[in-house]
Amino acid sequence: MKHWENFLAPYKQAVDELKIKLKGLRGQFELHSNHSPIEFVTGRVKPIASILDKANEKGIHLDRLESEMQDIAGLRMMCQFVDDIKVVVDLLRKRNDFEIVEERDYISNKKASGYRSYHVVIRYPVQMITGEKKILVEIQIRTLAMNFWATIEHSLNYKYKGQFPKDIQMRLQRAAEAAFRLDEEMSLIRGEIQEAQAFFTMKKEMQQDG
Ligand code: GTP
Ligand code: MG
Repeated sequence: MKHWENFLAPYKQAVDELKIKLKGLRGQFELHSNHSPIEFVTGRVKPIASILDKANEKGIHLDRLESEMQDIAGLRMMCQFVDDIKVVVDLLRKRNDFEIVEERDYISNKKASGYRSYHVVIRYPVQMITGEKKILVEIQIRTLAMNFWATIEHSLNYKYKGQFPKDIQMRLQRAAEAAFRLDEEMSLIRGEIQEAQAFFTMKKEMQQDG
């Protein structure tokens, strides 16, 4: 167990640091514009049991976890609109506190399950007492609708262990399409929504000032 604690320490450090950094972006957008492309940010270190399950499933030797399991440290950035995702990814590309290793676009190319998200894998340097250690971190960027679907599908996956009955699988695929259409509809009235949001922000600020 001590061994796992040591192994996971830099991952925990990275998740803690990146949560602060990426949430900080949201704060900056709030200062400088009416709309933040980032709605909220979450992060987690993969539980040991899930690491072992996945290693087993994918035939990853435990000595090679560092290089072969990209999502031991994971961050998620949720956006209101599909177009925001590109803005967020561009921001990540411009940063110089980490290096992008890989990008996977499951928005243009949805997965067979119906899953949509944009994945960016980074190599992030953490300063440990033993020196600098670079670790892989997976950042998933998605809309609120994509996140809603993925969360529900993930819990059903637990229940059915990935073996969905045919009717559930079909419903999930239809739900994924509905989520996609919701994103499309929201994009079409984006201007309207943002005007309303800007108005409420202004009203709130005036109340706070006065
Ligand atoms: P993993 O071995 O799961 O990492 O798959 P991969 O190496 O092909 O990477 P991929 O980018 O497909 O998936 C990485 C992560 O994306 C997963 O750990 C999940 O968090 C998420 N993900 C991928 N596919 C699905 C899906 O069908 N449903 C849900 N809910 N999440 C998914
Ligand atoms: Mg992966």
